[in-house]
Amino acid sequence: MRLDKYVSQCSGLSRKSVKQVLHQRRIAVDGEPVRNAGLILCGEETVTLDGHPLALPRARYLMLHKPAGVVCATEDSSQRTVLDLLPSTLATGQQIVGRLDKDTTGLLLLTDDGQWNHRITSPRRACAKVYQVTTADPIEPSAIDAFHDGIVLKDDPKPTQPATLVIEGSHQASITLVEGRYHQVKRMFAALGNRVTALHRASIGSIRLDPELPEGQFRSLTEDEINCV
Ligand code: URA
Repeated sequence: MRLDKYVSQCSGLSRKSVKQVLHQRRIAVDGEPVRNAGLILCGEETVTLDGHPLALPRARYLMLHKPAGVVCATEDSSQRTVLDLLPSTLATGQQIVGRLDKDTTGLLLLTDDGQWNHRITSPRRACAKVYQVTTADPIEPSAIDAFHDGIVLKDDPKPTQPATLVIEGSHQASITLVEGRYHQVKRMFAALGNRVTALHRASIGSIRLDPELPEGQFRSLTEDEINCV
């Protein structure tokens, strides 16, 4: 990484301010003052600013209890986004790990670690997501086999991968999906002539929505949660 980029990422200084501190010879690499902003670091060096060693901030991994009414986008000109629920210092650089519809509630993961995001969302990994569903009409027992066998969605000829449906009440069920197509749960129920009236994501892989986390609130993931994917 270039020295100026590294100093900027470690210190939070703008590239312009980094240029100034370099010019003032306040940056040292392995004890030697350096003014070359384009110096390429191999990652082994000790870089200091005014004698204080710099280190890259750790990647951030967050769990958000998404409320209904906010969109899963990093920016939107007219609607509130999930990033608006975070302090601006935390929101910077965050990626959404598997989107939810505006009216869907529940577990949303956010990170600035692109590789971790990819590990969870890559179709090849088939990471299981569990949703709690409420429907407008009673859920027929035949839906269990239909979900297991795969459903052809409107405008999508490839049947869905086997999904596990557990009926929990006349209008309630939990569904486990290993893929993430656009509006998938709603479209699967629509294909069976039913309509989803409420949808809530309970877990992604072995990360469960913290029952202590109120809607609209977030917390950092634990080491175990980060490492379980
Ligand atoms: N399936 C949907 O239909 N909506 C979501 O938000 C998530 C899965």
